[in-house]
Amino acid sequence: MGRRILVAGCGSIAAVKLPQLVSSLVQHGAQVRCVLSPKAEQFVSPLALASLSRHPCSLEAHQWDPCQPRPLHIALAEWAELVLVAPLSVTTMARLVHGLADTLLSSTLLASQAPLLVAPAMNTAMWEAPAVQANWQALCHWPRLLPLEPSSGLLACDSRGMGRLPELELILQGTRAALVTGGVADLKGLRILCSAGPTREFLDPVRCLTNPSSGRMGVAMALMARLRGAAVELVHGPLSNVPPSWLEPLETCPVVSAAEMGAALAQRLPQVDGLVMAAAVADHGPGLTSSVKWPKGALPNPLPLQEVADLSAGLASQLRRDQWMLGFAAQQGLDRARALEKQERKGFDWIFLNAIDLAGQGFGQQTNGGILIWGDGREQGLNTQDKAALAGAIWSALAKELHQFHRSGPDKV
Ligand SMILES: Cc1cc2nc3c(=O)[nH]c(=O)nc-3n(C[C@H](O)[C@H](O)[C@H](O)COP(=O)(O)O)c2cc1C
Repeated sequence: MGRRILVAGCGSIAAVKLPQLVSSLVQHGAQVRCVLSPKAEQFVSPLALASLSRHPCSLEAHQWDPCQPRPLHIALAEWAELVLVAPLSVTTMARLVHGLADTLLSSTLLASQAPLLVAPAMNTAMWEAPAVQANWQALCHWPRLLPLEPSSGLLACDSRGMGRLPELELILQGTRAALVTGGVADLKGLRILCSAGPTREFLDPVRCLTNPSSGRMGVAMALMARLRGAAVELVHGPLSNVPPSWLEPLETCPVVSAAEMGAALAQRLPQVDGLVMAAAVADHGPGLTSSVKWPKGALPNPLPLQEVADLSAGLASQLRRDQWMLGFAAQQGLDRARALEKQERKGFDWIFLNAIDLAGQGFGQQTNGGILIWGDGREQGLNTQDKAALAGAIWSALAKELHQFHRSGPDKV
């Protein structure tokens, strides 16, 4: 990341997760400073945060230290390129909404002009209290603010419900998104449908034709769009190697076969502005299927294959002029001519070409890179990087165009 991140922790039991968060940020290359509210000091060790961030942890008492050459809240606010408030307490949320600068932490947040990422954590009843919800809604309207809603699960008060601090992995991805966009929800107003993962074409109840796609790239596209303000629906095949927390902020529809994926996407397509087709849909299924398991010796050999209808071409043919489609082409080598031919044949507005045979790219990998190609042949190379970072780079390349998208020519439907 290589950026200056101020981690601000409030008085919630979830503050015990701060050392791990700070450690992860540092391991991702961020420069980290920490500031704690007076109550947070009771939940987490400032010494641990100082050690893990390699810098003194700022506490309430430091604000009033006559040896400070400048007001500490101003120095911290000006230092930060991003302020990450995790956990955000009910009280500090109210302080921010009402402009109360009565702690070092709230003074710093109010003095900051950096993007803010806020991750509240609290008991479910507190979260649902009308006053808290009103404050949360008001906070979500701040410019440069990326809100991460609490997740659901077991709480320290022994109840289950909404109020848990989002998983650290999700906070890291939110940090990534906020650093790219400056906290601005640049995809707000867009409704985006994404597909991800492989499909499985069953030959009998225990055998299938599939591929090694993990779904990580497609889910990363969906997550980054969501974190940048879009309303996102994700239709996905069986996923592997995708952090479960990436799915948390998304509306998801799990499917298994190409036919199920086609039906789920076609049903949702009319309601969205655009479709990201990142799923690795089977192009062939077994020509013979059985509802009972074939005995080993009775398996059809050779196995007859049957072509599966081209799902993405079918969906592209149903697009209105105001709907766009981004396709992915996983190929051996970076063959632009083949990618352009695929783009034209299938009717994609953009295609992302990535090589499956280059180191650090393709199916099952954590990283990917390639070339984003426009219909008119323009292109932008995107370095091999973490798939979530790559998804962010693809959205950055397209964000402006998506808001004013209108294809020339008639509707395709
Ligand atoms: C054991 C304990 C756990 C708490 N957990 C939370 C919590 O998860 N979320 C929250 O908003 N407040 C929680 N509180 C209440 C806050 O600590 C209290 O509102 C405090 O004023 C917050 O101050 P701060 O925002 O300056 O950190 C908890 C209090 C105690 C004693």
